[in-house]
Order: sequence, then structure tokens, then C-alpha cells
Amino acid sequence: MSYYKGKVVLVTGGAQGIGLGMAHAFAEAGATVILTDADAEAGEEALKGLKSAKRKASFIRCDVGAEHEVAALMQEVKDKHGQLDALVNNAGIADPFIGDLEEMLLSEFDRVLAVNLRGPVLCAKYGLTLLRQAEHPAILNITSTRAFMSEPNTFAYSASKGGLEALTHSLAVSLAPDRIRVNAIAPGWIETGPWQKESQRYEPKHTREDKEQHPVGRVGEPRDIAEAALFLCSDRAGFITGQHLVVDGGMTVKMIYT
Ligand SMILES: NC(=O)c1ccc[n+]([C@@H]2O[C@H](COP(=O)([O-])OP(=O)(O)OC[C@H]3O[C@@H](n4cnc5c(N)ncnc54)[C@H](O)[C@@H]3O)[C@@H](O)[C@H]2O)c1
Repeated sequence: MSYYKGKVVLVTGGAQGIGLGMAHAFAEAGATVILTDADAEAGEEALKGLKSAKRKASFIRCDVGAEHEVAALMQEVKDKHGQLDALVNNAGIADPFIGDLEEMLLSEFDRVLAVNLRGPVLCAKYGLTLLRQAEHPAILNITSTRAFMSEPNTFAYSASKGGLEALTHSLAVSLAPDRIRVNAIAPGWIETGPWQKESQRYEPKHTREDKEQHPVGRVGEPRDIAEAALFLCSDRAGFITGQHLVVDGGMTVKMIYT
């Protein structure tokens, strides 16, 4: 996609997992990719991988839940790159299980909301000045199918992703005067084992049931999300804003009778 040549894309939580998969895809498409992540070790490793593939990339450490760190991140993006075409709000506490409601620590609930929901708000707020100057600016929020359905004891994660879905359409309307399109991808089960930092990397083993419960017959990969991200952040999606695209191999449209 030659669209991304000369573009600058910031991927939060870009050092591992889906974020790293998206970073590689944007960089392969010609973008300069800025990875940001709270895990500096993972970030340096990820940057090395991108550089060895001759991609244009940099890493800035940042906890997206901390306002002063996000403000400093966007200042550094401005100083080093002077441009921001797409902001991908991917960083998240990805483990959905928080335990029993009565036992739950409020601080744990608050932390999930601070990273998964307040993080994207802060990144949009402090990235706004640069995004406004782009030709076709876009924000992409990575939500989850857990915004729409639940397993037990996942209420902090589900609430954070439900909030992020609502934030998507609300920001789409609020930032329309600035021509900033805001969309979301709601992933289903995406296997990230091979995309973790070296010390935590593993080869996934999926059972037949794991695969066959998906109408498409397999578990998802970061590439599946990256393909949708490339489209939604480009001007080929110029008439799409405030929407979410579910990328889940068909899991959430399957009717189950027992
Ligand atoms: N993998 C899935 O099956 C799946 C499904 C639905 C949604 N998601 C969402 O996709 C996103 C990525 O998930 P993943 O599975 O790749 O997770 P992951 O744990 O593999 O990667 C997440 C990355 O975000 C970073 N991160 C965590 N907290 C951060 C913070 N406060 N500031 C900056 N960086 C931070 C981590 O260090 C890590 O590098 C998350 O928002 C997650 O909720 C994942």
C-alpha cells in the first residue's frame, strides 16, 4: 500500500503481540512506525527486529495510563518526527480475568480502566495537535469482542472495552471538524505467543476444538488485525468513521444451542 510512504504511525503497546504485528505491517507498507510500550526491554527487542528488516522505526517508552508520560511521549513525537498521521490505541492489560467481584481489589479495577480506557483518551488528547496537521488523520482503537459478550469475572476488562467502543463513536463525532476519522477493531481470540519478547515467547499449540469452534477453522493471528488496521487507517476508508470491525473468525455470530 503506497499510501503509507511518508506517513508516521504511532502504535501503543507496539512492542509485543498484536501491536508488534501491526507495527511490522505498517512499516512493511512504507510508514515510519513509532512503537511505544511500558516494557522497555520488549520495546528495544522489537525495535531491533524492525531495524534488521530495514524498516523505519523508533521506540519511546511510555505507560499510557500516566498523563505526564503521554504528554512527554507526544512532545517527543513532535520533536523527532514533526508529524503524526495515525494513532493506534492498542496498549492494554490484555488478561480479561479479574476474579470474583467480592474479592476484587478496587485498585485492580481502576488500573484496567486507567490503561485500557483512559490511555486512549490521553493519547488522543495529547496527539491532537499533530493529528490535526495530517492530510488524512486517523485514530484506531483496539477493543475486543468482550465489549459485547462476557465470560464470568471479566467485568473490568469488558467494561473498559465497552467504554472504548463508545469512545470511538463519540470521538468520531467530536473530532469530525478536524477531519480525524476514528474507528475500532474488535478482535476475537488472537494468538500472540510468537510475538512476545524472547524470554516469554512460546509456540502455540491449539487443539482441534480450539480451531473448530471458529467458523473459519482457526485461531486468529496478529496479521489478521494488521490487515484491517492498514485499511481503516488509510484514505481507502475515507468514508468510514465511528465504526468497529469485528475480526474474530466468526465466533460472535455463531448461534449455540446445547
Ligand atoms: N490477543 C487477543 O486475543 C485479544 C483479543 C481482543 C482484544 N485484544 C486487545 O488487543 C490489544 C493487544 O493485546 P495483545 O494480546 O497483543 O496483548 P500483549 O500483552 O501481547 O501486548 C500488549 C502490549 O501492551 C503493553 N502494555 C501493557 N500495558 C501498557 C501500558 N500501561 N502502557 C503502554 N504499554 C502497555 C505490554 O507491555 C505489551 O507489550 C489489547 O488492547 C487487548 O485488550 C487482544
